[in-house]
Amino acid sequence: MTPGRSCPLDYRTTPQEMARTPAPEGLRGLETLYVVGGLYGNLEALEALLAAFAAEPAARKALVFNGDFHWFDAEVDWFSEVQQRVLAHWATRGNVETEVAREQIGAAGCGCAYPDWVGDGTVDFSNRIIERLHAVLSPAQRQQLAALPAFLRAEVGGLPVGIVHGDADSLAGWGFCQEAMREAPMRAAARQACDAAGVQLFASSHSCLPVLQALGEGRWLANNGAAGMPNVQGNPCGLFTRVATTQAPRALAQVPLNAVGARSPLHLALCPIAFDFAAWRRRFDTRWPPGSDAERSYGQRIRLGPAYQVGQVLRQR
Ligand SMILES: [Fe+2]
Repeated sequence: MTPGRSCPLDYRTTPQEMARTPAPEGLRGLETLYVVGGLYGNLEALEALLAAFAAEPAARKALVFNGDFHWFDAEVDWFSEVQQRVLAHWATRGNVETEVAREQIGAAGCGCAYPDWVGDGTVDFSNRIIERLHAVLSPAQRQQLAALPAFLRAEVGGLPVGIVHGDADSLAGWGFCQEAMREAPMRAAARQACDAAGVQLFASSHSCLPVLQALGEGRWLANNGAAGMPNVQGNPCGLFTRVATTQAPRALAQVPLNAVGARSPLHLALCPIAFDFAAWRRRFDTRWPPGSDAERSYGQRIRLGPAYQVGQVLRQR
């Protein structure tokens, strides 16, 4: 097993397992659902996100952090604040939480299961970041993370939603990444996974670039990219997925969604998180100065965004 390249066996999930798993009572009959992947310890983005959620007028609303809410927060106080505020809501494990919850960092390294197109340098940086992060957890924090589920099911206005970190088959799967969604067989596989899981929408994250992809026959994939990092060139905002009975007031991409059995169309959107960018940069730079692993791996993206265009996000076919 190559650290950072492989999927541990305990990452395996199946859509059939999701089909057998009911939505918890608190995630049923919702009017508004936020799914937030890849916060990466960004407390400023968390602050802005929680304010947006609090301002939602719906009586039945829920916020799910679907993994990798920790990453850059490799300091005791910083980590504790993220964990406390995130775990006040629903959460699933990402590969980051799964790996730092172990007694020792295992053979999976960061657990990212990076595909071949991601260079060895990035993989090495990630393996070293996870070791720094692992060192700040208390045993109680480790247990809290280990107890989180690998996926959740929710229901919004009659729409069944599958919430995963990677894809339907693995916590760190890349089957729902924007590159995969360019391939018709991968879209067909994602549609089949929807049917096998008994959901009409999968909400995922992990691969760090957003895509709102029609899968055919009313099925959709919403990959929010990252809540805590820029997602498209020239825009510093993080993103989250919003499914609701009302339109999102601000969205990078938004589509109407007809749920089978729903009385009226729902609205599926990738919404921006505009936060205090300067304060976040200061926090990041203090912990990860020039030359550090995280700065060398992520500094350019945090400053300039990825080489990914806003026009690539929404794919109606
Ligand atoms: Fe991840």
